[in-house]
Amino acid sequence: MKVTIITIGGKFEADWNTAIVIPAFEKDFPIQSELLSEELDMLVQSIIDREAFSGKEEEVFFIPTHGTQYAGIILLGMGEKGKIYEEKTRRAGGIVANCARANKISRLVFDWSNLNLFYIPSVVEGLILSLFSFDKYKGDSNKGDKVNITGATFLTRPDENIERVIKVINDTVSVCNSVNMCRTLVSSPANELTPESLAEFARTMCDKVELKCKIVTKEEMEEEGLNAILAVGKGSSREPYLILVEYRHPDYEGELVAFVGKGVTFDTGGICLKPRDDMHEMKYDMAGAGVVLGVLYALGELKPKTRVIGVIPAVENAPGNNALLPGDVIRTYSGKTVEVLNTDAEGRLILADAISFAYKKYSPNTIIDIATLTGGCITALGHFAGGIMGNDKQLVESLIQSGEKTGERLWELPLWSDYEKLVKSEVADIANIGPKGEASTIVGGIFLKSFIEGNTKWAHIDIAGTAWGVRHIPYWNEKYPTGFGVRLLTNWLISKSQS
Ligand code: BES
Ligand code: MG
Ligand code: ZN
Repeated sequence: MKVTIITIGGKFEADWNTAIVIPAFEKDFPIQSELLSEELDMLVQSIIDREAFSGKEEEVFFIPTHGTQYAGIILLGMGEKGKIYEEKTRRAGGIVANCARANKISRLVFDWSNLNLFYIPSVVEGLILSLFSFDKYKGDSNKGDKVNITGATFLTRPDENIERVIKVINDTVSVCNSVNMCRTLVSSPANELTPESLAEFARTMCDKVELKCKIVTKEEMEEEGLNAILAVGKGSSREPYLILVEYRHPDYEGELVAFVGKGVTFDTGGICLKPRDDMHEMKYDMAGAGVVLGVLYALGELKPKTRVIGVIPAVENAPGNNALLPGDVIRTYSGKTVEVLNTDAEGRLILADAISFAYKKYSPNTIIDIATLTGGCITALGHFAGGIMGNDKQLVESLIQSGEKTGERLWELPLWSDYEKLVKSEVADIANIGPKGEASTIVGGIFLKSFIEGNTKWAHIDIAGTAWGVRHIPYWNEKYPTGFGVRLLTNWLISKSQS
């Protein structure tokens, strides 16, 4: 999608696939737009007169205008006048994209002359996120909607900030492409996206944007003693890998951040097999890994002054004849022993080793892990917020803030030491689950916290509810994963590198 900004009186391309988009606040009539001829203006006015469009938030009205210069006019409700914020404009982008698609519109011209141009990037974000699809396995006759939006033009008043806004738009497009790359990866079925092919994907991606990539094989993990990752992977015929991706700006000497992403390419539950209903959704259990790759891809494109290491334990959790058994004790990479009381609580096991590995090999100042860790997180927060826990108030706060900014909301859960009692084991240093039905999301966080060493700042983000299945938000489509976390973590890093 090509995005351009023009000022009033400027020329723009419009053809018979073009719709004019006119944002309007409630009760803020009559609508005035440079883009409307006298005739079209009367048409719009008649619609408002008969109260078919009122400007309410998330309201949209399409007026076909065949035979004129354009294919149609999209009236876009912006809600209460004077109330404008990024999420509102992001959702507006989603609404316009959905309306354009339904009406086979492929080019948009927004009359943004009465609105602040600093909100254009989030409209673009809403457009691009809405346009994601995953149809590589569909034949032409099943592909359905093939209309795509190829261009979006924004008409603004002359403004000294236009160049700055264009730069932000370009960066936004890059980051959204990374989000959509993550979504494609997460959508991929587990017979195609195996730990090995995830590692290959990471390598190809790194070559493309000049990142450092190292793949640790099963044999190398055996030598290292990454026993928790190996234990989870051993029930599957698909071998586990540990994927390391590094971004470093040549002029940057500051703090190192490690992102650790859960990469379970399929989670059957292992010997503690999951029920069959919806089990196919467990192909999404590598969403955390997808997010980490998405962030690193964005960094490779934007090249901010920072340094990041991405650590991805990639495994398939399957109940093979060599599988991990309930009651097994693993000596993790850290030396701490874990009693595996449930083989379905596998994410925390592989993350524990990945966290310890990141600490030992790279001594990062900050570790942030991101994972589809607990079904309990969906029970607690639904699909509208991820859970966040950590050992550093400021770190957690800054992540929540970035999430507010990008529309990826996080909600903090406590890690009081009382919860540590829930993971006591009779035979090992720690158990991998707590009592059934008791604070399972927090227990996941408590478990991971026990693997944080030294004075490393750490945060854990549970995306079980937000990685897919998000409804009621115009720029998300319930059918597809969201890439929740890519924009948030990229924003967090970049604002940190600029502060
Ligand atoms: N991958 C699942 C968590 C999950 C479940 C994410 C549903 C999204 C939707 C994870 O590995 C898991 O199975 N967790 C268990 C932990 C329990 C055994 C303590 C869970 O949440 O039920
Ligand atoms: Mg599981
Ligand atoms: Zn899992």
